[in-house]
Amino acid sequence: MSKESYDVIVIGSGPGGYVCAIRCAQLGLKTACVEKRDTLGGTCLNVGCIPSKALLQASEKYEEAEKHLQAFGVKTGNVSLDLKTMMKHKDDVVGSNTQGIEYLFKKNKIDWLKGEGTIEAKGKVKVGKTTYEAKHIVIATGSDVVSLPNIEIDEKQIVSSTGALELTKVPKKLAVIGGGVIGLEMGCVWSRLGAEVTVIEFLDRILPGMDGEISKEAQKILKKQGLNFKLKTKVLEAKTSKSGVKLKLEAAAGGDAETLDVDTVLVAIGRKAFTDKLGLEKVGVKTDERGRVEVDHKFKTNVDGIYAIGDVIAGPMLAHKAEDEGVILAEMLDGQSGHIDYNLIPGVVYTWPEVANVGKTEEQLKEEGVAYKVGKFPFSANGRARAMNATDGFVKIIADAKTDKVLGGHIIGPEAGTLISEIVTVMEFGGASEDIARICHAHPTLEEAIKEAALAVDKRPLHI
Ligand code: FAD
Ligand code: NAI
Repeated sequence: MSKESYDVIVIGSGPGGYVCAIRCAQLGLKTACVEKRDTLGGTCLNVGCIPSKALLQASEKYEEAEKHLQAFGVKTGNVSLDLKTMMKHKDDVVGSNTQGIEYLFKKNKIDWLKGEGTIEAKGKVKVGKTTYEAKHIVIATGSDVVSLPNIEIDEKQIVSSTGALELTKVPKKLAVIGGGVIGLEMGCVWSRLGAEVTVIEFLDRILPGMDGEISKEAQKILKKQGLNFKLKTKVLEAKTSKSGVKLKLEAAAGGDAETLDVDTVLVAIGRKAFTDKLGLEKVGVKTDERGRVEVDHKFKTNVDGIYAIGDVIAGPMLAHKAEDEGVILAEMLDGQSGHIDYNLIPGVVYTWPEVANVGKTEEQLKEEGVAYKVGKFPFSANGRARAMNATDGFVKIIADAKTDKVLGGHIIGPEAGTLISEIVTVMEFGGASEDIARICHAHPTLEEAIKEAALAVDKRPLHI
């Protein structure tokens, strides 16, 4: 095989692409990964999951020191914010993670082809002036920010999530357009650091797609923490001036327009598949009505030898979904078989308390006409949560009315993102709520709330 010839070329080094490349290399395939950014790791490591979690963690500590430690008998004196150091913490975390991928590429002998990759023809990828050959091409080019037609993102006064991770001072007033995952996570960061945050959501609820009861509870708790919500509201226009941004709002059902004056606006209304300059039209790779690359259950596009994974195809735009697709595709290219149960991909919102879900919501089951039972248990009745002063929220388990098989798990509460994995595991094994109820859970742990919710499915919780 010549220097310019590979078994697999992956375009994009996000969690889908870099994981796929590592698994291909582990399986003995000669692998290269094309990345146009200066660092590896894609949206997730550079401007997504990792920096946002670094700021969420840091702002949580700030708020804890400012407001919550006193109740534990810890006197802190005057707490003040050093935003520069907080941002350095975030940048350091991003740096160590992206360099980590570079190390993994070297360790696995994966070539990083630096630059923008264009598919020239079947089996040919051009990067810079060189055309490389590959038996298999994997498109893992991810997603990009969506903007509103009448609102231009300048990443200064009107920012996307990328700009919201880089603000150099805390805005006095921040408007967040979109009450989804990014809006709530970044809204919480800046609210904890002192901004007055107003979330403007087009629908009648935040976190659409999550179980209705959970999203209501999330709104109640976040409101208590100081976030303002304007639901069923449209943003008609945004006028920037030296003094800030004037938003014109209108109730979604019509009615009088009102204005909102803020310093900064975060636009977080979803993301779109990114395929710019990839050359898809030239080679005839089909995309759907939302610009996502169309694939079959083996991640094959309509063109032989070209595959796609991650945010650029349909499904939840989540890093772990992209990673799992990357591994399975690599194993399929090696002649193995693989399968993902898309119903069992957990979703987590890293607010405090966290929100986590897996499987079906009550709303979905009603629509599907499936008979179900529900068990709930509040963290206010959990000893460990009381010891942590973190009693907001509850665990909700939904099981089939006849078979007791677990159909969904929904948690709002401390460490919900970690706790959900127990329910995911039980569901992967086709388990019932009775199984969770019979498993010995250590005491005193937050996990006991899951056991109690499972007991509650059968109307026999012990501690409430
Ligand atoms: P990406 O990570 O988008 O990577 C694609 C890469 O391809 C990019 O680096 C891009 O530069 C490169 N590329 C594109 N075109 C070309 C080309 N032609 N040539 C060369 N390179 C190219 N998900 C979670 O699961 N948990 C979270 O906590 C979470 N937090 C998030 C927070 C924010 C603020 C954002 C924006 C997203 C978050 N996500 C989170 C979503 C997650 O980042 C994405 O689902 C994930 O990154 C998708 O991975 P991917 O590999 O498909 O694509
Ligand atoms: P989202 O789809 O989660 O939320 C967008 C919200 O904006 C929705 O509530 C929607 O109804 C609302 N909206 C749409 N148009 C609007 C308009 N014109 N005016 C007002 N509201 C409007 O998308 P978001 O938050 O931008 O995140 C993008 C993707 O990134 C998500 O798919 C998510 O999976 C991923 N992500 C995941 C995280 C995690 O797993 N913790 C964290 C951050 C992002």
